[in-house]
Amino acid sequence: MKHLIRTDDFTTLEIEAILEDAKLFSAKIEDGSGIDKILKDKIIITLFFENSTRTRSSFEIAAKRLGAEIVHLDVANSSTKKGETLVDTAMNLDAMNPHAIIVRHQNSGVPKILSNHTKASIINAGDGAHAHPTQALLDLFTLKKHFENDLRGKKIAIVGDIKNSRVANSNIELLGRFGMEVILVAPPQFLPKTTLRTTHYINEIVDEVDIIMSLRTQTERHSSQTYASLKDYASDFCITTELIGQRDIILLHPGPVHRNIDICDALLADKRCKVLEQVSNGVALRMAVLKKLINDI
Ligand code: NCD
Repeated sequence: MKHLIRTDDFTTLEIEAILEDAKLFSAKIEDGSGIDKILKDKIIITLFFENSTRTRSSFEIAAKRLGAEIVHLDVANSSTKKGETLVDTAMNLDAMNPHAIIVRHQNSGVPKILSNHTKASIINAGDGAHAHPTQALLDLFTLKKHFENDLRGKKIAIVGDIKNSRVANSNIELLGRFGMEVILVAPPQFLPKTTLRTTHYINEIVDEVDIIMSLRTQTERHSSQTYASLKDYASDFCITTELIGQRDIILLHPGPVHRNIDICDALLADKRCKVLEQVSNGVALRMAVLKKLINDI
């Protein structure tokens, strides 16, 4: 396996090995011990056509911790702005012999197309509403850490704009594969066609789930306004202290969080909220993915 476009590009065994590596990297980062520069002399390009805070910096820090050199292509000032096709841009970058190109694009399918034209590994950092494999892998890693590897039969509610979310898509495949029951909670316009259990009412499932994953409404992908206002959405779907009470439920969110619309301030500061742990785990997980794709050929 050379490219990572979707979570199902990796077998379950491959993912177990990646999670083991991520655990080792995470422990080394935490205790400050030295990390072998196994990607010394490797060059990685980041090519981001959509905004990003966490994912791009997380990949960059992961690459640097392993000793790789990172080159960021400034898309706003690149030749795609002069009419060059995306495939030509990728082929030109590939002709400089990088080891990997990390791509984010607003259109589903772009990383897959580029992977047909490059020698370098293409790593999907999010394409449209299609897939975000490293986000789902870091969510799985966070859950495995929290539940000490025991995910079989655990129930997770994914809440929000599921239909337009690449994070939801990748997690539905991956968490299901690792034995979890996924329940989708959303208003009708945000629910995809699915065979999974669904509900429009979060109250219906709050007593039975172990985890709630809240998602941001993907307004950039809506062709028209889907809710009277985000406040109206929040009154039905915001995860609040009143809703969760003292229940033993942990909260995930891929970020960026719409405060008091996705999750309330008080819960964001609660120890059951794992949002910043997800971010920390993201670096270790991406180190393991880069090692696998670039080094373990
Ligand atoms: C997500 C994304 O870009 O898909 N963010 C991320 O990568 N952490 C989710 C989102 O933008 O809502």
